[in-house]
Amino acid sequence: MHLNKEENQMLEGAYGEVVQKALELLVSIGACFDAEKLIPIRSGHLLANLNGIGRAGASYIHEMAEKGGKCAIFTDTNPRNVEAELVDELGLSVEFAKEEQVIIDAYSKMGVSLPHTCTPYLIGHSPRLHEHIAWNESSAIIFANSVLGARTNREGGPTALAASLTGRVPEYGYHLQENRYGDLLVLVNAEMKHSHDFGTLGYFVGRVAGDRVPVFAGLQPSVSMDGLKLLGAAAASSGSVALFHAIGITPEAQTVESAFGHRKPADMETLEFNNKELKQTEEILSRSTKREVDIVILGCPHASITELREIARLLHEKKLKPTTSLWVSTSRVMKQEAHEIGLVDIIESSGAKVTCDVCPIYPAQQAFGPGTVATNSPKLCYYISQGPQSLIPHYGSLERCVEAALTGVWG
Ligand code: F3S
Repeated sequence: MHLNKEENQMLEGAYGEVVQKALELLVSIGACFDAEKLIPIRSGHLLANLNGIGRAGASYIHEMAEKGGKCAIFTDTNPRNVEAELVDELGLSVEFAKEEQVIIDAYSKMGVSLPHTCTPYLIGHSPRLHEHIAWNESSAIIFANSVLGARTNREGGPTALAASLTGRVPEYGYHLQENRYGDLLVLVNAEMKHSHDFGTLGYFVGRVAGDRVPVFAGLQPSVSMDGLKLLGAAAASSGSVALFHAIGITPEAQTVESAFGHRKPADMETLEFNNKELKQTEEILSRSTKREVDIVILGCPHASITELREIARLLHEKKLKPTTSLWVSTSRVMKQEAHEIGLVDIIESSGAKVTCDVCPIYPAQQAFGPGTVATNSPKLCYYISQGPQSLIPHYGSLERCVEAALTGVWG
């Protein structure tokens, strides 16, 4: 791999041990993928949850901070597993919270911004078209690649941190234009009436696509950001899709030719998503056979202000069934905005809770597993039903989920 003068100095230790180790890692990853060089990146996004990072990862991050590691570029964080209020309220492990705090303190020392959200693009961390970045968190990666047209691979915890510490990544994968063209066509004919229908579509396609780049034809240009957010998050969890195109909608797919790089073969694999596939996929996701719902979770990925408005409208002057909880998961920044315009008061007056800084999966499993959850997120259906304290999901529209929280049953 070609390294410039500065990078060679980094490798020789001129910028300190932390940068040296980080660059060694990036160079060895680059060698695995035959990268010709390193390229500069504009931002990073790091995991912040103890379950994702693990204890060994936490102590590695702590060590990097103690040795003086500093981010070379703007970097922020994904949600945590727990936060103080939930620990107290749900009686979660204080020891676990302390261990997670070690990661957060180390990041803070390294100059990482700490918004703890999986939708950084909704709160100002929104990379531009063709900008190279190094992000962790599959739902944010696919949104950045597809909807914003930025360029990132699905970074793992250590490589994302190494990229932030050096401001570089090896040039391979989705950083290269030749790997960003579609290789699977999806004809969407289903009636896409609700935003969760886009999540259903994403889940359906991810199962077939694996790590390919699906191109959607037939989506209406009026599809909302929330719909695209759910679509990407679902495709990245049922498959390992990191990039999709929607013809006439996403920036690298203004035409069929640009989506496929003028090389679409006549016999390209084509999937159809009709009302039949929409219904079948909803049935696959909605696995609970119990009518009673223990908890409803909305905001996976973290809720936008539009979703918070809609939830507040549906809950206005209503009360939840006492046997059912409703959590709305969002970022601290979005919660503050919602608070200032009265939405948090409306939502919480019903008995629901607006959580921030966390991914709801771990605390919900601790508090309600094994039990039944209702959600409008295919990604949440997938991950919350893993592990010893799994919850079995009902899956449907946001309206139907709110109704379940008000009545206590899945109707
Ligand atoms: Fe975000 Fe957790 Fe869902 S990190 S995308 S709320 S699984």
